[in-house]
Amino acid sequence: MLFRYKKTYEKIAMGLLSFVPSEKDLKKLQQTIKQYEEDDDWQLFLWKEEDIIGIIGVHIEGETAELHHISVNPSYRNQGVGRRMVQALKDMLGEKYTIVPTKQSKEFLEKCLSEKKADISGQ
Ligand SMILES: CC(C)(COP(=O)(O)OP(=O)(O)OC[C@H]1O[C@@H](n2cnc3c(N)ncnc32)[C@H](O)[C@@H]1OP(=O)(O)O)[C@@H](O)C(=O)NCCC(=O)NCCS
Repeated sequence: MLFRYKKTYEKIAMGLLSFVPSEKDLKKLQQTIKQYEEDDDWQLFLWKEEDIIGIIGVHIEGETAELHHISVNPSYRNQGVGRRMVQALKDMLGEKYTIVPTKQSKEFLEKCLSEKKADISGQ
């Protein structure tokens, strides 16, 4: 289940975001979280299965949602959680918004989207 970040979840959110290569520095990480808390164009969501195991964050600009951050707890990687988060985010944002990557998220997002196409054509 995808749900919107709020300050109660700051510690877990920072823990998950710290796996993103650009967020290794604590000061940068604190700035990032602050931006998500204060600027409504920056939207951060947590992913809960039994526990909170993932995070995904986008910058809304017009009709695009630029994927800046995505991270899954290392114990749960390579089980499709990342792909499920992208899909849930697409569903949550609705048709108005297109999810586009940053340089950093490009490889993963393209993989998710192309896999999805392959799944559909294989049906
Ligand atoms: C990137 C990340 C979120 C992927 O989460 P995940 O739950 O392991 O991903 P999924 O299991 O849904 O994988 C979906 C597909 O993407 C591929 N993939 C996983 N990580 C990838 C990466 N960093 N780049 C490109 N493709 C990747 C998987 O191999 C899988 O493809 P397959 O089905 O052909 O095997 C996770 O590895 C992570 O938290 N990494 C640290 C943070 C990070 O680097 N974020 C990306 C930059 S913002």
